[in-house]
Amino acid sequence: MEHTFNEFLVARGLPELAQFSRKWIHPELDLHIDSIIDICNPMLETHHADVLDLSRLTLNQLQAVEWFYSRSNHAGGLALSIPLLNPTICDLFIEYLQDKPMVVNSKEHENYQIPELVTKTRDEELFNSLFAFAHYCLFPLMGLMWCKYPDRVETIQFAQYSDKKAETTWHHDIYSDMTAVVNLAPELYTGGGTDIRTSLVTYEHVHSIPKGYVLLFSGSMSLHRGAQVETGTRNLLVFWTTSDKTETMLAEGKDVNIEPVTKMSGNAQNASLKVGIKGITNGTHPQKRSKRTI
Ligand SMILES: [Fe+2]
Repeated sequence: MEHTFNEFLVARGLPELAQFSRKWIHPELDLHIDSIIDICNPMLETHHADVLDLSRLTLNQLQAVEWFYSRSNHAGGLALSIPLLNPTICDLFIEYLQDKPMVVNSKEHENYQIPELVTKTRDEELFNSLFAFAHYCLFPLMGLMWCKYPDRVETIQFAQYSDKKAETTWHHDIYSDMTAVVNLAPELYTGGGTDIRTSLVTYEHVHSIPKGYVLLFSGSMSLHRGAQVETGTRNLLVFWTTSDKTETMLAEGKDVNIEPVTKMSGNAQNASLKVGIKGITNGTHPQKRSKRTI
């Protein structure tokens, strides 16, 4: 049986990093994430936001908003790149993945197949840590970008593009309203990046982003493809999330299972995430809504 991320870290003498904690957060994002969470808290009740009233924000929150909107926009605002994951954790993921076979999804058409490792099925402990990480700092960024909160994580997986394959086929991530793609090791390849369609006849090439940065874009709405890697291997961490279910439920007047967070894992216990969503599911069957809180 292949070893888990936890076992890998124990062997490295770093067991404390197995569970999500603030050490996972990119240092630049760490300066602002608590303010961003506070701004997004009202969004947790409805999964979408009204217009943000800047006059009601604290100085720290205003600085966080200014920081967020000063980040790199791509393809006319269809995509945004922002620091997310601590480069130290990126390096540990790369090391952990070294002896892990990545497999293509044989159910997908050949044109769409990319070697991948689906965390939910291959290392559930790691999936849970990544889910907590996304809940804590990725979803608030999505809230700021789209004024919407995910209510379901479709998959969290590692993916590899190598120079053996031409650019991937243009596609929509049909199971992902809000896609997040983290660049784990830009030093291991040349070329790559992401092409995003801006119209039927135009597209913009988004160059490789720095280590630990995430590219946020609407996977289901933006036609996109992975650009060809020229040398080496491009390692990505991919999150697919959706948000439509809760809005449908709200429209139907159904309970969306919002409750205060009472427990948080690891070093995140002292952090200031005040509200969680019991209704956010973690890739299991949609009817079996997770009771998870972090
Ligand atoms: Fe995609």
